Amino acid sequence: MTRKALPFAMLAGCAGLLFAAAPARAAIDWGSVPGKSIVLFYPGQSSYEWALTESSMSGAKAFRTEGKNCDTCHIGEEKDMGPQIVTGQPRVFKTGEKPSIEPTPIAGKPGSIPATVKFANDGKNLFVHVEFQEGSQPDAKQDPASATKVTVMFIPKTAKEATRTGCWAACHEDAATMPAAGGAERTKYLPGTRAKLTRQGGGDALKPADELAKMKADGYMLEYWQARLNAGKPAVGITGTIFDKRQEVTPSQVTAEATGTGGNWAVTLSGPLNGGGGMIAFQPGQTYQVAIAIHAGHTARRFHYVSYERTLAIDSGSADFVAVKK
Ligand code: HEC
Repeated sequence: MTRKALPFAMLAGCAGLLFAAAPARAAIDWGSVPGKSIVLFYPGQSSYEWALTESSMSGAKAFRTEGKNCDTCHIGEEKDMGPQIVTGQPRVFKTGEKPSIEPTPIAGKPGSIPATVKFANDGKNLFVHVEFQEGSQPDAKQDPASATKVTVMFIPKTAKEATRTGCWAACHEDAATMPAAGGAERTKYLPGTRAKLTRQGGGDALKPADELAKMKADGYMLEYWQARLNAGKPAVGITGTIFDKRQEVTPSQVTAEATGTGGNWAVTLSGPLNGGGGMIAFQPGQTYQVAIAIHAGHTARRFHYVSYERTLAIDSGSADFVAVKK
């Protein structure tokens, strides 16, 4: 009899006996997995539409006409970008001054966060391990329930705009707390779901239902895994997708574990390689993209730190991160 065929009660009994002290996710020896350092920075109101407009962001033309992606120009600059955006003051460059992109700065907030990121898999589950130092964070009182949230965004090749821009593809001028929101509570969305996209974002007019259904069937979406953290309390894992809006998937497909106090965290998110139900089915040898966000100091919505997009290979491949088989 294979293990699969065991009646559930029997399996649960065995599991209780054999594995109670050692859940699968605790099995990864992170010391044996190579990590990569990245810097997350505070992006203010730099939306997708802002970044694609040359008068707002001077790399827009090279992005549009030369195929240069955001990461190619900006990786390595994050620790300089964040601190000048977060103050809410005009930004100063070699080429001159640019207007503030943060109308409601949080006093004393650090501009960037360094992190070390590792991935692994065990044939059934994908694991992400993020260690970071959030620094001294003022309490923004936007999200009383969570002091800190770490979110990993997974970008399949089918989410074309996001493969070039990472999280910016989901961050629009008219989302809640962004310049053209006009009080609306719009969450993240992918540009292709909108009937029309202008400098002000895509509004609420969607493409016809049959086109949306086809896009969805073709895997045009983003997936995110989030750990919600409070010192001294168990971490909470959240899963969600982004298509025409951000939507939590319940029950959560991922679990979160965290250690840390005083702003130094080590967080592990674990979830199925093939979550089913509209989630990404990660395949060995395939490459995806990932980007990371951290909300620190009880912040919500756009008041987070973000990374540029990185590549992720499952098992093996040439990528920024390889989720090695353990
Ligand atoms: C060809 C290089 C290039 C590309 C590609 C590029 N940028 Fe930029 N970016 C710049 C330059 C140069 C600046 C400095 C400000 C300016 O001149 O607009 C800048 C500024 C920024 C800033 C503000 C930095 C600060 O310190 O205030 C953000 C945020 C930003 N870019 C995001 C993006 C995003 C998102 C993308 C992809 C859609 C992107 N950039 C693509 C060159 C580039």
